[in-house]
Amino acid sequence: MKVIKVKDYAELSKVASDIISDLVKEKEDAVLGLATGSTPIGLYKNLIEKYNNKEISFSKVTTFNLDEYCNLPREHEQSYYSFMHQNLFNHIDVKPENINLPNAIGDDLEALCEEYNEKLSKTQIDLQVLGIGGNGHIGFNEPGTPFDQETFVVELAEKTRQDNARFFSSIDEVPTHAITMGIKNIMAAKQILLLASGAAKQDAVKKLIEGEITEKFPASVLKKHDNVIVIIDEEAAGALEK
Ligand code: F6R
Repeated sequence: MKVIKVKDYAELSKVASDIISDLVKEKEDAVLGLATGSTPIGLYKNLIEKYNNKEISFSKVTTFNLDEYCNLPREHEQSYYSFMHQNLFNHIDVKPENINLPNAIGDDLEALCEEYNEKLSKTQIDLQVLGIGGNGHIGFNEPGTPFDQETFVVELAEKTRQDNARFFSSIDEVPTHAITMGIKNIMAAKQILLLASGAAKQDAVKKLIEGEITEKFPASVLKKHDNVIVIIDEEAAGALEK
């Protein structure tokens, strides 16, 4: 794991967007794995700026998102479909047919997982963007998820629902389930870029960098991947030994 320490969120977003734009310049049909949440918003803003400046184009890029809430209508403001369109897709030239998010609306969620897993198994993600949950989750792979898990329906941990309640009017509105890429799907990416910013991520970052590899802390699996870059800002790095 290569750890890049930066000053603050602005620098984290800049370094991350430079890594992605370098990839897209080199490989115009790159396959990007994308995340939602607060952390990558600055990265997406920078990518939009690079697109507006004609530095990069996404016209041949394919995207796969990590996860989606179950049975939250796509048009709901907090669906990850809406999030990605508001924060990135509506502002760049990615083709709608090249955008992939789990379809998590329906009665047969297992079949929807299989469908997404099938799509993932037919391609290889060149670079997967990840945030990290306070409990070490990646995607919505909560503590205890087996490392060989593929796309599945997850019951969200209480901590995750509390963390995400800030986006909804009350915790009761936060969906209880989501479809997420499994750890195995994430680990199949050629390269992984994990971003962590702010003091709330200190403990998670410490466990990720200094802790053991254990299913109790899902992000620790990344130590088994040979091409991972972790970008952390000063606040997120605050609890590290050095
Ligand atoms: C998002 C995702 C989650 C988030 C994590 C951190 O698609 O899968 O794992 O990356 O919950 O969220 P933020 O960035 O809001 O702290």
